[in-house]
Amino acid sequence: MAKIKSVFICSECGYESPKWYGKCPGCENWNTMTEEIKELSKGSATVKKRISPYSKPVSIGEISTEDEQRFDTGFSELNRVLGGGIVKGSLVLLGGDPGIGKSTILMQICKNLSNLSILYVSGEESKRQLKLRADRLNVVNNNLQIMTETDVELVCEEIKNQKPDIVMIDSIQTMMIKELTSSAGSVTQVRESTNLIMHTAKDFDTPVIVVGHVNKEGSIAGPKVLEHIVDTVLYFEGDKQMSCRILRAVKNRFGSTNEIGVFEMTDKGLKEVENPSQMMLSGRPKGVSGTCVTCSLEGTRPILTEIQGLATNSSYGNPRRMSTGFDYNRLSMLLAVLEKRAGYYFNNMDAYVNIVGGLRIDEPSVDLAICMALISSLKDTPVREDAVAFGEIGLAGEIRSVSQSQQRVNESVRLGFNRIVLPYHNAKNIVCDNAEIIGVRNLRQAFEALSE
Ligand SMILES: Nc1ncnc2c1ncn2[C@@H]1O[C@H](COP(=O)(O)OP(=O)(O)O)[C@@H](O)[C@H]1O
Ligand SMILES: [Mg+2]
Ligand SMILES: [Zn+2]
Repeated sequence: MAKIKSVFICSECGYESPKWYGKCPGCENWNTMTEEIKELSKGSATVKKRISPYSKPVSIGEISTEDEQRFDTGFSELNRVLGGGIVKGSLVLLGGDPGIGKSTILMQICKNLSNLSILYVSGEESKRQLKLRADRLNVVNNNLQIMTETDVELVCEEIKNQKPDIVMIDSIQTMMIKELTSSAGSVTQVRESTNLIMHTAKDFDTPVIVVGHVNKEGSIAGPKVLEHIVDTVLYFEGDKQMSCRILRAVKNRFGSTNEIGVFEMTDKGLKEVENPSQMMLSGRPKGVSGTCVTCSLEGTRPILTEIQGLATNSSYGNPRRMSTGFDYNRLSMLLAVLEKRAGYYFNNMDAYVNIVGGLRIDEPSVDLAICMALISSLKDTPVREDAVAFGEIGLAGEIRSVSQSQQRVNESVRLGFNRIVLPYHNAKNIVCDNAEIIGVRNLRQAFEALSE
């Protein structure tokens, strides 16, 4: 008889403790600890169920080093993020907010791979709903099997019998192993189900794409608790109100994690965006203060984006700072530098920063444009609309050089910008005839170059 013990597990990060906490000690989120029953039987449920439980050691010389086989997904944006297609036998987690387009992209992959046999398992939608979506997206694939099931063991049994080329599971939070006492969506269920799927994928060399919802409800496990189990983790980002969707790899055992894929949501499904800079800049306001264009590097691709800043008098003693698409702590640091090193005072101002288009940028080269947007709003002076600015800002208020500056300049020129303001040390090496290149050493110089 298995012993039963109750534990508290965080649905965001998987932190376990015998005691309940209001704030998770692991990830510091509030109200994410939920009680689950932990079975203390011999080994976990999945170990017992493994189809071939024993992997014999082989001499390293006997292991084949042929290039791993990859399936082209038919989307070059997705292939690039995956590192060149879906690797056979790999487990890919596709995370994102509900309604962002995860089921849509899976169905579109089914359409693109019409020569492969695909098993699409849904625990969320009825066969009819799936058929309606497939019709809307014009999916024609006679090798596509739809299974509406939530019992993972039955799903794995089906994989074993059918041996499909690819399996899709939508979503992992609806899947469950019957004999576990915890409810579907709990950390234990989600983890154990993924483990079982992982072993099946490896045993039959079948690639599996698993959908994981990101949600703010404490009792349902988020995709983060699975990141260490799977081979590749992709997240769909973007503002649901806008059509732009960004696919980003945060973990990849078969490729780099720097690349992003850019898509646009339309009524015919997701469309690849070949010219992301143009899309990010569409609808940019002209002649107003508080906006500045920058060029960041996403993997191997330079992308132009608009940064907006707003500084207003604070009505409370404690001014508000808010950032969307940019690290909050870095914004605080930049505000401190603006004040201490350049004499732009924000101490009784609320300050907001937004990266337009739903892109999240963690690259320090956006520092300069963020500062410029904030100064522009503070002084109510527009930045020239034909200018681009990029550069990292140091604590001494200096503008530090960034990598790949030539590539950034080229992309800016390609989109018709005439004046490029960049770190002084980068400017010396730039070759460019079609735009003014202005190298700057500090924030004041930069703002002068952008506003004159
Ligand atoms: N009939 C429709 N016409 C146009 N767009 C639709 C339609 N139905 C759904 N969509 C789009 O698809 C999105 C839902 O995508 P879906 O793949 O179901 O999301 P997820 O699986 O990530 O929850 C909606 O937000 C909407 O933008
Ligand atoms: Mg869905
Ligand atoms: Zn946590």
